[in-house]
Amino acid sequence: MNVTLSDPLYLAKGSCRTVFKHPSHNDLCIKVNHNPRKDRNITEIVFYHFHRRHALDFIAQYKGTVATNMGKGVVTEIVKDHDGKVSKSLEEYIEANLLSIEQGFAYIKALQEKVLKCGVLLHDDGIQNILMRKATDGRLTPVLVDGFGPRDMSFKSLSRMVLSPLARKKSKQVIQGMLRRTEKMRAGVLESIQTGQIPTF
Ligand SMILES: Nc1ncnc2c1ncn2[C@@H]1O[C@H](COP(=O)(O)OP(=O)(O)OP(=O)(O)O)[C@@H](O)[C@H]1O
Ligand SMILES: [Mg+2]
Repeated sequence: MNVTLSDPLYLAKGSCRTVFKHPSHNDLCIKVNHNPRKDRNITEIVFYHFHRRHALDFIAQYKGTVATNMGKGVVTEIVKDHDGKVSKSLEEYIEANLLSIEQGFAYIKALQEKVLKCGVLLHDDGIQNILMRKATDGRLTPVLVDGFGPRDMSFKSLSRMVLSPLARKKSKQVIQGMLRRTEKMRAGVLESIQTGQIPTF
């Protein structure tokens, strides 16, 4: 075991993985699996290896794997804004009313263009997986931290990743799902304005 992870390093948690700051590299995080039914790390490693020669600037940069006290961890850059703060997700921006639904659509479509150009396979339409990297001039760039690559290690999922026409077809459906999820947030935003509970950050 090379790295010990503990509570003070905690960054965030999803349904499958807990994310920790790397104890010795400020700009990196380590993702470990906590869901015994789904190993999201293995599918992601396979994805990163398959695309290792492609410059995918819309996906968090992969730095390899590391053995930890919580099992094998995937190491990636932490997506950060120009001021060093961890970037917020598209979902959080819309929830906080800092971006409109229409602006959300535009960012998802910009992402779609890059995804289809590179023939990258997506499998998860959750917009919490899109972090919005903010530059000094305030410009936002969407970066995926999860939801790419094969859903599982089945032959069908792996074929979809390797055969780019299949990857494009599936990714188009996933992007449609992201747009639908964003549209559904319209009701939530209206409700928070009406009740005066607009979250801020
Ligand atoms: N590279 C990163 N930089 C900054 N924050 C990150 C990064 N990767 C993950 N996170 C944060 O950690 C959360 C959980 O990570 P991730 O989405 O990889 O876990 P998961 O369990 O696979 O998620 P899901 O519930 O979507 O399946 C993300 O929603 C995000 O807030
Ligand atoms: Mg996620």
